[in-house]
Amino acid sequence: MMRETPWVAPPGLEGVVVADTAISDVDGAGGRLTYRGQPIGDVVRNFRFEELVPWLVDGVRRPNVQPLVLSLPLEPWPRDPMAALAVILLHLGDTWPDDLDEGCAMICGLPVMFGRVVGTDGDSVWDSTAGVAEQYLTLITGKKPASVQVRALDAYWVMAAEHSLNASTFAVRIAASTGARLPLALAAGVAVLSGPLHGGAPEGVLELLDAVAERSDCPEAILEEKLQRGERLMGFGHRVYRSVDPRAQALREVFLDLVGTEPWADLAVRTEQAALRLLAERHPERVLATNVEFYAAAVFKAVGIPRLLCPPTFALARMAGWTAHWSEQHREGRLIRPLARFRTS
Ligand code: COA
Repeated sequence: MMRETPWVAPPGLEGVVVADTAISDVDGAGGRLTYRGQPIGDVVRNFRFEELVPWLVDGVRRPNVQPLVLSLPLEPWPRDPMAALAVILLHLGDTWPDDLDEGCAMICGLPVMFGRVVGTDGDSVWDSTAGVAEQYLTLITGKKPASVQVRALDAYWVMAAEHSLNASTFAVRIAASTGARLPLALAAGVAVLSGPLHGGAPEGVLELLDAVAERSDCPEAILEEKLQRGERLMGFGHRVYRSVDPRAQALREVFLDLVGTEPWADLAVRTEQAALRLLAERHPERVLATNVEFYAAAVFKAVGIPRLLCPPTFALARMAGWTAHWSEQHREGRLIRPLARFRTS
C-alpha cells in the first residue's frame, strides 16, 4: 500500500504559522510591534521590567512585584556566561515555585542572581533594595550606575522582552508542550539563544562602533571601506521589518533622551546617519533601515556591559516573553511533534 505523502514545510519553517498567541504581534510590512495590543513605544515609556513580566504573562498589571532572589551555591560556574545562566536555571529547578506569580518574581530576580555569579566586585556598593536594573549594573560594573544608565537598561529590557515566535521562543514552547517545568524550559531557551545567529548580533555592532571610534572624525570612510570589501553594516536591514524596525525607533528615543550627552551617543548617531546615507545610495530599490541591534549595542556600551555579557543581558530580558509563551502553550496542552522525511543522502 502506498504511503500518503504529508505536507512538507519549507526549510526554516519560513512563512509557516505554528501557534496562536495573544502576547505580541510583529507586523513586518507596517513596521509595528505590539505587546498585548499596545505599541512597543508606549510599553517602553510606561513599564519597568519588573512590572512588564507578569503583565506579559496574563495581561494584568501589578505595580509592586518584589523580585525573588535565592542564594546559589559557590560553584565553579561555567566560564561561558550563557552556559552559566543555563546552569543557574537548572540549579533553581529544585526550588522553583509552581505558582506562576512567584515564577514571575523569580524571573525579576534572575538578573541579580546572575549578576552575583558573573559580576566581579560590585558587592561593596550593591544596594539590594534598588530596582533590578540598578542592582544588575552595580554587580556587573562594580560601581553604582547613574540613574540615566539604569533607565536605559530598563528600557532595553522592556523592549527586548518579547518578539513573537523567534527560534528560542519556539524552543520554549516545544518544551512547554511536553509538560517540562518552567526553569528547564527557560534553560532550553538560553541554549537556543546562545547561537550567534540569534543572540550575537550586538557584538558586530560594537566592533563597528569601536572601529569608528578609533577614527571618530570620519565614520563615512570606515563604512565605505567595509561596503567596498563586500561586508554588511551590522545593525542595518531586517528580514521581517521592511520599512522601519519599531524597536530601533523606541530604543533610539530612550537612548538619546537618557544618554544623549555622552560621547558614545554622538558617535553612534553620526555612524547611523552616515550608514543610512551610504546604504540608501547603494540600494535605492529597498529600505535598509536601522535595526534594534544597533541601539541595543549603543545602550550596552553606554551603560558599561562588557561584550561577553551582551547575549546573557538579552536573555535575561527575553525570559519574560519565554515565560508568557510557556504559560500560553501549557494552557493549549497539545504536544508539538512534527515529522521528518527519511532520505538516504
Ligand atoms: N549592509 C550592507 N548591505 C546590506 C545590508 C547591510 N546591513 N543588509 C542588506 N544588504 C544588502 C545585501 O548585500 C543585498 O545586496 P545585493 O542584492 O547587492 O546582494 C541586499 O541588501 C539584500 O540582502 P538580503 O540578505 O536579501 O536582505 P534581507 O533583508 O533578507 O537581510 C539581514 C536581512 C538582517 C540578514 C541583513 O539586512 C543583514 O545582514 N544585516 C546586517 C546584520 C544585522 O544587523 N543583523 C541583525 C538583524 S536584527
